[in-house]
Amino acid sequence: MLNMPILPIVTYNDPILLQIAESVVELTSELDDFIEDLFETMEGADGVGLAAPQVGRSVRIFVMNADLMYDEEDEKANLLGNMVFINPEIVEYSKEKVSYQEGCLSLPGLLDEVNRPDRIRIRFKDESFQDQELELDGWNARVVQHELDHLDGILFIDRISAFKRTLHRGSLQKIDEGSVSASYPLADKKS
Ligand code: NI
Repeated sequence: MLNMPILPIVTYNDPILLQIAESVVELTSELDDFIEDLFETMEGADGVGLAAPQVGRSVRIFVMNADLMYDEEDEKANLLGNMVFINPEIVEYSKEKVSYQEGCLSLPGLLDEVNRPDRIRIRFKDESFQDQELELDGWNARVVQHELDHLDGILFIDRISAFKRTLHRGSLQKIDEGSVSASYPLADKKS
């Protein structure tokens, strides 16, 4: 088996996490390999989603496997397995919103409740660069919205109230300074 690298995760407040990522125009074999690395890195970090900017590459690609978030008993669970979303675009949001706790590999140790639409319809290109459209709900919809935000320079802490954000100020500063550890490799802080 090929040994695929686990890429270091870029953390808050790296400028790449604040950028609008570039669309993919062609799925090259180099990008194919990169997508494999994304999956490997996500799994190595026990993540349920990972966006390309989080490993230092500003392109509109993210991977997800939200299956672990679902209860085995959950009859409504829509288990999708490993999914890659290229040039994703959410074309419909439900009016109903739900609040759940989120975390982010780029914000080690930080958790908070985020209110998001419960259901979405998304258009994207798949691993064969074919157009796809899916209606998602539950954890799939949540992870997709969180990861797509990364492609637009948005972190989940940007979606909580300013008051709640001030409660995280100390933790954010520690992440920014690089004085946090995680169970997965973190990218060096640029100084
Ligand atoms: Ni994240």
